[in-house]
Amino acid sequence: MSTHTRAAVAFAFAFACGAAAGADAQKAPYGFGTTATDADLARFFSPLPDGRGLPSGSGSVLQGKSIYLQQCAACHGENLQGGIGDRLVGGGGSLVNSDKAKAPVKTIESYWPYATTLFDYIKRAMPLTAPDSLSNDDVYAVTAYILAQAKIVPDDAVMNAQTLAKVQMPNRSGFVPDRRPDRFPPAAKTSHQSLAIAPAK
Ligand code: HEC
Repeated sequence: MSTHTRAAVAFAFAFACGAAAGADAQKAPYGFGTTATDADLARFFSPLPDGRGLPSGSGSVLQGKSIYLQQCAACHGENLQGGIGDRLVGGGGSLVNSDKAKAPVKTIESYWPYATTLFDYIKRAMPLTAPDSLSNDDVYAVTAYILAQAKIVPDDAVMNAQTLAKVQMPNRSGFVPDRRPDRFPPAAKTSHQSLAIAPAK
């Protein structure tokens, strides 16, 4: 085969492959992957503070205690005091204080405004080495346990989509909406910056 013929064959082959991929592409737009099923989509959730978007399932403080001790305590401490991982409870009243030497102690108990975030975060990110490995029931349970250790819910509490959304976190009103108008600063003097920043009107 001459170099030219070889090139022509290679071109024809590439063209044929391209045509085949084109035919596939009509079936599925990018020619790969499968259509997500309802079961696939059920794995995705994004809870809002009012509980919308929380998955079904439930768990008690007691169930959560054994999950916590097995899967969380090594990093967050047996008493949730922290270690490799963050301290999870305590710190109440430390965010706003007049003693400059006293740093705020930010924990779920002292800082987080919504309990639903706890479910979301644990489900997505914890345990650190195996995120998304806990069932929804287990996540509700360990959430209940942490909230009970912080004395935010009673020791016999059961958390589910409804009860978790009703939990009032201690720092619920510690955040204020930023009402400043969403404007950019006036255009800078240099042409480089004035291209990047739109002037306020
Ligand atoms: C291997 C160590 C490790 C294990 C095990 C682990 N965590 Fe964590 N956790 C961390 C680290 C490190 C962070 C901080 C992550 C960051 O800031 O990005 C964290 C952060 C968190 C936070 C956020 C705290 C905050 O105030 O921001 C929560 C809640 C949490 N973990 C819960 C859990 C729960 C519940 C489990 C058990 C199911 C668990 N973790 C298991 C290491 C761990």
